[in-house]
Amino acid sequence: MSGWVVIAGLGPGDEALVTPEVRAALEAATDVVGYIPYVARVAPRDGLTLHSSDNRVELERAAHALAMAADGQRVVVVSSGDPGVFAMASAVFEALEAGPQHWRALDIRVLPGITAMLAAAAKAGAPLGHDFCAINLSDNLKPWALIEKRLRLAAEGDFAMAFYNPRSKSRPEGFARALEVLREACADARPVLFARAVSTPQQELRIVPLTDAQPEMADMRTMVIIGSSLTRVIDTPRGPVLYTPRSA
Ligand SMILES: C[S@@+](CC[C@H](N)C(=O)[O-])C[C@H]1O[C@@H](n2cnc3c(N)ncnc32)[C@H](O)[C@@H]1O
Repeated sequence: MSGWVVIAGLGPGDEALVTPEVRAALEAATDVVGYIPYVARVAPRDGLTLHSSDNRVELERAAHALAMAADGQRVVVVSSGDPGVFAMASAVFEALEAGPQHWRALDIRVLPGITAMLAAAAKAGAPLGHDFCAINLSDNLKPWALIEKRLRLAAEGDFAMAFYNPRSKSRPEGFARALEVLREACADARPVLFARAVSTPQQELRIVPLTDAQPEMADMRTMVIIGSSLTRVIDTPRGPVLYTPRSA
């Protein structure tokens, strides 16, 4: 089999944050597969077929990529950020596990990208400089009770927390509930970063105390990072810098 599948992360938005390794894979590909807005970031060219699909069909998309590679195509499955963070790499391996035995002989590689959490943290300072965790706040693929349990335990462990998928039009109340849980569990005014559309022309950063954080400050293009009890803000003439010291 001469085909391959590369599962690649396109980074948070800025072309300068796409790794050279990912660029090279896209240049060598015959097919690119992914969610519509991510495939739209790949420049069309002769010899390259772009396959865009809706975000609700991850497993079908993954199986399609594997089937094309088994037919000899060179396929790049694109995700935003890093493909292993709440994205397509797991979906491809789920499809591999459930699929025909001959798919397991395929050349499948995962190429990392800069995940939104790290891009957001870097723009604000160093809020993830000590122990932290990342939580997907969407309850599409897990029950809300589990999210709430993880929020409480992360607060008890005094982790900084990075939230992906904080709030969507179809799930407006979940993030409001998450803020209530955090206010109760943290019981202080630690800083919260709302980082929207990081590294794109629409980028907006806002840092507020947990006591003032409002659900409307987040949407599906926002990364929310809440500090640990030690995270603080330094005021500088260039704006606030958010950081967590390296020792607890
Ligand atoms: C399905 S997750 C995909 C995460 C992606 N694989 C990554 O590593 O960044 C989508 C969520 O990532 C966050 N996100 C992605 N790109 C972002 C950006 N440029 N700025 C802020 N948040 C972003 C948002 O929380 C969004 O709801």
